Amino acid sequence: MAIRLGDTAPDFTAQTTEGEINFHEWLGDKWGVLFSHPKDYTPVCTTELGMAAKLKPEFEKRGVKVIGLSVDPVDSHKGWEKDIEETQGSAVNFPMIADDDRKVSDLYDMIHPNANDTLTVRSVFVIDPNKKVRLTLTYPASTGRNFDEILRVIDSLQLTDNFKVATPVNWKDGDDCIIVPALSDEEAAEKFPAGFKKVKPYLRITPQPNKAEKSVTV
Ligand code: BEZ
Repeated sequence: MAIRLGDTAPDFTAQTTEGEINFHEWLGDKWGVLFSHPKDYTPVCTTELGMAAKLKPEFEKRGVKVIGLSVDPVDSHKGWEKDIEETQGSAVNFPMIADDDRKVSDLYDMIHPNANDTLTVRSVFVIDPNKKVRLTLTYPASTGRNFDEILRVIDSLQLTDNFKVATPVNWKDGDDCIIVPALSDEEAAEKFPAGFKKVKPYLRITPQPNKAEKSVTV
């Protein structure tokens, strides 16, 4: 069955390029990004893995551990990683699950038989420290994912977990936020000392609460 937002991320034990791991233990109290690749030694995946490696400091800044997966064995992953370092200028610095028995792919519904009955699609799961699934993305094999977007969603999730805000279209860290409808104007005035702009009763804009140097007139 498909994994839905709010579900507990299924746990598993698997072989990886960094040895056997138990997923939940490996995550510990961190956020996680689990993402699948159709196959080793393929061009789009090569660029994605290089980018994920390059962005490791950005993931770490947000308390996020990254783990990749494809349905190839560890030896194959390790051989391919040499090519990734050579061509993308960054060595893969996170574990890659060797899912040759498709145990994890099946658990996470990463094989979509009407697209391809043996290879995984490009799945992304963002998992929070309570092991709950907070984002799922599914891309076709021919389209490389946008890792800036994955970081952007993590920024939004971490912000909205801490403040009673939501983030508008194309929001990025530092932009104005939307006050959640559940808060009254009085509560909003108390919670957001920088103030808010009431465009409509249901659309109230406030500076990003943890970066609110600017203020707005109510
Ligand atoms: C790729 O990663 O380049 C790829 C994988 C499967 C099908 C098409 C492209």
